[in-house]
Amino acid sequence: MRTKIVAGNWKMNKNLEETEALLGELAAKLPDTSAEVIVAPTFVSLSSAVQQLSQSVIQVAAQNMHFAENGAYTGEISADMLLAIDVDTVIIGHSERRSLFGENDELLAKKVKSALDKNMKVIFCFGEELDDRKSDNHFKVVETQLKNALFDLTASAWSQIVLAYEPVWAIGTGETASPEQAQEMHALIRKTIAEAFNAEIAGNVTILYGGSVKPNNAKEIFSKPDVDGGLIGGASLKCDDFIEIVKAI
Ligand code: 13P
Repeated sequence: MRTKIVAGNWKMNKNLEETEALLGELAAKLPDTSAEVIVAPTFVSLSSAVQQLSQSVIQVAAQNMHFAENGAYTGEISADMLLAIDVDTVIIGHSERRSLFGENDELLAKKVKSALDKNMKVIFCFGEELDDRKSDNHFKVVETQLKNALFDLTASAWSQIVLAYEPVWAIGTGETASPEQAQEMHALIRKTIAEAFNAEIAGNVTILYGGSVKPNNAKEIFSKPDVDGGLIGGASLKCDDFIEIVKAI
């Protein structure tokens, strides 16, 4: 059985006090679930979030990291720094990192390797832009993103990888991929991994969908056989919405 996950990517939202308030509410209202529930607040709140959630099943992830161990990289944060505050999960490759901060497949491959070398869990994001889909290139683009960043990994490294398919045109737009579009892409992702590695790895990897998941569409999207949960942006900032999405899984 694949692990089901609902993860909230808070992006650059919520200061320390607001983070404490939202986490307190989430921890109090979290329903019993066999799914993993993860939140990724901003860096400055991570340490406090870990402490606050020490008695909760809610896990804490970082939104990014640098590939180097340490050194002259102003403004950056290393895997060791995250591990030192008990954060062992990191989101890598989010489309906003790619489009707004120039992160390309080559850089992302280095980040993934560094995180895995440190035994961290990686939530690796990828997905096509609107033009790719309009020109019927979306499968090719997604396959290339996967291959460039992940296909040099050893087979054993896949147990530390969670994939998050996030079509760029559905992020923050209110426009969601239909459950059928999500299923079609997730199935292709699994097939691509089966061909490059093997069926067991492909069958075991958790693949999340991200892009305007809301309480009113989560259940239908999560009902698809190859969709193992969601990476939630906007709706993860509202306690009741996020809780409803957790219930939907
Ligand atoms: P939205 O849910 O706001 O569309 O964001 C999705 C996302 O980017 C999660 O990483």
